[in-house]
Amino acid sequence: MKTYFVRTFGCQMNKHDSERIAGMLEADLGLSEASSPEVADVVVFNTCAVREGAEERLRGHVSSLKAAKTGDNPNVIIAVGGCIGQRDGETLLSYLPHVDIVFGTHNVGRLPALIASARESRDVTVEVLAEATSFASELPAIRERAWHAWVPITVGCDNFCTYCIVPHVRGRERSRPLDEIVAEIAALVADGVVEVTLLGQNVNSYGRDLYGEPRFPQVLKHVAASGISRVRFVTSHPRDLSDETIAVMATTPGICHSLHLPVQSGSNRILHAMNRHYTRESYLALVERLYAAMPDLALSTDVIVGFPGETEDDFEQTLEVVRKCTYDQAFTFLYSPREGTPAASLENAVPRDVMQERFDRLVTIVQSSAFAKNQRLIGTVQTVLAEGTSRRDPNVLTGRTEGNKVVHAPMPEGASSASLAGTFLNVSINEAQTWFLSGHIEG
Ligand code: SAH
Ligand code: SF4
Ligand code: F3S
Repeated sequence: MKTYFVRTFGCQMNKHDSERIAGMLEADLGLSEASSPEVADVVVFNTCAVREGAEERLRGHVSSLKAAKTGDNPNVIIAVGGCIGQRDGETLLSYLPHVDIVFGTHNVGRLPALIASARESRDVTVEVLAEATSFASELPAIRERAWHAWVPITVGCDNFCTYCIVPHVRGRERSRPLDEIVAEIAALVADGVVEVTLLGQNVNSYGRDLYGEPRFPQVLKHVAASGISRVRFVTSHPRDLSDETIAVMATTPGICHSLHLPVQSGSNRILHAMNRHYTRESYLALVERLYAAMPDLALSTDVIVGFPGETEDDFEQTLEVVRKCTYDQAFTFLYSPREGTPAASLENAVPRDVMQERFDRLVTIVQSSAFAKNQRLIGTVQTVLAEGTSRRDPNVLTGRTEGNKVVHAPMPEGASSASLAGTFLNVSINEAQTWFLSGHIEG
């Protein structure tokens, strides 16, 4: 049987698209998953353009397949899709000449047809559409974790933060009709899924393009009422997170008290230059309301270090906000200029060594905040969704708390990861490190 391999570089939306790609390659083309890209008949790279680093990794991976294509595996079909495919189209072939198919973010569903024709003709095909015509959620999926599903509720982004390429490669924001979302979740529940993550670049603006009701809080209520055990969602733009959403999160069983709320910077001057439409004061007030409504909230964020013109004073203000928000986790990024975005033409670039030094200081604060937050959980009993065994020790079970924290616990006698994955266990926590908790299973 012919085989495929899909490598994913980007965000949760890309992971979702990759699950659909795998689903189509199996259902429509009858392919099965290969153990590595070197031996696969079809290799799909689902790319990300958000920072330079992700692009470099793509180039490295495609180049390493060159050896296979010119050696043992000459008939391999290499397809590059996702956000770099969307951005570069045909230009991609000028720097990655071994690629057979280039597709974009709006035509994931066309991939089986493109592969079928490439197999016959061996011609290079480039197909990138200007706009989406459907939601990829209508396509079959092979889920990486059987019990978890990504469910897009919006695609695209209208925010145009000045550093960000996403609106340029994912298009304008479109909301998916609520009945479609609810129908998909009902089917997932019937299929044994116990956790969903609702996806959108800015889930809080759901419905803005549909006018009137329903808006995001109603979506949350409907999804929670569908019988799914855990509901998560990413990403929330601080400007659009309403008090109604906070109230629904706080009072609706099943909606995790876990929130990703990217701050990006703690300096009003930089936030303005980033076109973020909130201030440090309004962000801090929002976080205060969140913790007041949900004292057990696990809060995470994104921070960009070294946006053009960022001074030591601006950065100090970011550190102060990070300290005050007591984050459970923060994804920290060095600013990466993206061609075609307004920030890429700004002057006053922050020197690389200054950026790195600030980055290191930020990481230290994030780590101590995450450690302190985890320490508070010692002595508590957490509901843990079991995922599998630890990579280091097959006798250790791993799973995640409602706050999305990794938990390790000894595997119960006679149990296996296959029997426990996707089930909920009560774990009494007796140890807390920066990025994981340990405990033992109760009962
Ligand atoms: N829609 C989401 C995710 C956007 S991309 C949101 O608004 O949060 C994920 C993160 O990548 C962003 O939050 C930002 O912190 C980071 N990012 C985006 N563009 C970047 C750039 N040019 N340089 C460095 N980090 C960037
Ligand atoms: Fe990018 Fe801003 Fe949209 Fe997030 S909200 S995807 S950071 S433009
Ligand atoms: Fe990257 Fe595209 Fe997501 S640029 S972050 S994969 S939307």
